[in-house]
Amino acid sequence: MYKILITGGAGFIGSHTCLVLLEAGHSLVVLDNYANSSPEALRRVMQLAGPGAEGRLQVIEGDIRRSADLERAFAAGASTGAGLDAVIHFAGLKAVGESVAEPLRYWDVNVSGSQHLLAAMAAHGCRTLVFSSSATLYGYPETVPIPESAPIQPINPYGYTKAAVEQMLRDVAASEPGWRIASLRYFNPVGAHPSGRIGEDPNGIPNNLFPFISQVAVGRREQVQVFGGDWPTTDGSGVRDYIHVMDLAEGHLAALKALLSGGDQLLQLNLGSGQGHSVLEVIEAFARACGHAIPYVITQRRSGDAAITVADPTEAKQQLGWQTRRNLDDMCKDGWHWQHANPNGYTSVRTSY
Ligand SMILES: NC(=O)c1ccc[n+]([C@@H]2O[C@H](COP(=O)([O-])OP(=O)(O)OC[C@H]3O[C@@H](n4cnc5c(N)ncnc54)[C@H](O)[C@@H]3O)[C@@H](O)[C@H]2O)c1
Repeated sequence: MYKILITGGAGFIGSHTCLVLLEAGHSLVVLDNYANSSPEALRRVMQLAGPGAEGRLQVIEGDIRRSADLERAFAAGASTGAGLDAVIHFAGLKAVGESVAEPLRYWDVNVSGSQHLLAAMAAHGCRTLVFSSSATLYGYPETVPIPESAPIQPINPYGYTKAAVEQMLRDVAASEPGWRIASLRYFNPVGAHPSGRIGEDPNGIPNNLFPFISQVAVGRREQVQVFGGDWPTTDGSGVRDYIHVMDLAEGHLAALKALLSGGDQLLQLNLGSGQGHSVLEVIEAFARACGHAIPYVITQRRSGDAAITVADPTEAKQQLGWQTRRNLDDMCKDGWHWQHANPNGYTSVRTSY
């Protein structure tokens, strides 16, 4: 069993991954500053993981940009014998629009934060890393489904920061032997744990389609805006590759296993389903899950959107033996279960861990 540092472990993808890793028997140190999350998520992760996980989750409130906080996390990892075996690096900012308005904050948290983390890893002799990258790297894709060999051509500051970190990781891997690194390029993570106890809890107006639909379904917002009804797709709405967050969490476990069981590695892998669904299809599937129609309005296309973005997930299957298992109906059912049971997310129960 391994000891793993999870940066951003209280967030949407981090909390689900923590649960999967605890259930697999690993010990975790979470470092999170709660910039976009709540300690309540980790409390629920522990409840779901059950008594067998007792004592295997240490939580440190801190910032990846602060060396002192990183030192506390590495010290926690070393408190029970040998140090950390690996790091999964989720901590970061992820809103495209915000990245256009506040690029320096994005470069600071995403790029400088990653640089600080890598320096701490090198100093502590921990050279195994799984990094949260994004399909946003591909910008307007020239080929669909998109293979990992497609050109990296981001079109917004968020995407540039992810491309910069991937480049930093390639440079680090080439600089000395011993590094085992996986950059996982997520497509569109959605849904929630089937218990409905943990899920996505965005601050303010959701940037992404799925949490927006959930909030309309639960009555927090009036209607969904569909950006563009004249795309070259079967029903005119944009097509995306949605991936259930539990499939994604399992992808991290598979990546860790692959890294920790091999020698020096540098993996750059798409994590997606390989299936495209249009916005209107997702709205219909969510309506089936919640049992009532979801009001929507079709508006102008939004700049920066592509017509179709779908992963070619072949490489992840070959390298990790991993592929998605859950379909769009599972994503909607589990997403609705979470939203219905927690209409205001974790906000009504913000507690310390
Ligand atoms: N959700 C998506 O659609 C998506 C898609 C592709 C890639 N990603 C990437 O996956 C990662 C996780 O995404 P998520 O959806 O779980 O986001 P999230 O906002 O729910 O989680 C990020 C976590 O990082 C923490 N954090 C932010 N800045 C920090 C800092 N300076 N120090 C310590 N902790 C900090 C936040 O409090 C939060 O708990 C991010 O790096 C994101 O860019 C997400």
